[in-house]
Amino acid sequence: MSDGDELIAAARAVRANAYAPYSRLTVGAAIRGDDGRLYVGANVENVSYPEGLCAEAAAIAAMIAGGAKRIAEMAIVAAGPDPVPPCGGCRQRIAEFAEPATAIHLATEAGAGVRVTLGELLPLAFASRHLPR
Ligand code: THU
Repeated sequence: MSDGDELIAAARAVRANAYAPYSRLTVGAAIRGDDGRLYVGANVENVSYPEGLCAEAAAIAAMIAGGAKRIAEMAIVAAGPDPVPPCGGCRQRIAEFAEPATAIHLATEAGAGVRVTLGELLPLAFASRHLPR
């Protein structure tokens, strides 16, 4: 099993715990941290819709709480005919902890998948180097 497969399996497993009664789109995310460990997250919606949390944000929070510093590789799993790509906000969140070449696996529940890089998802990313010194 390649690391991508293990990450996809972990994202698929945690997706079962997602709390998405409003959109009914359940999403699971898994991160391989720079410490070699797996960190997972699922989306958590709220009746006050803007208070909802994306699966990727939950997985990043788990990674930081667990002590890892960087995203080595990531997977995102949702249902539907096509793989669900991370939303714009999550692309920026991932960019905080990953490189343009970092692999992100997008997979459906049925097994269809695509491997993209963060750089492909978020070209011309806003980064700390754009802040005044
Ligand atoms: N969602 C994620 O968890 N990740 C994404 O990148 C796309 C959207 C969630 C948020 C919300 O709970 C549901 O999918 C519908 O937008």
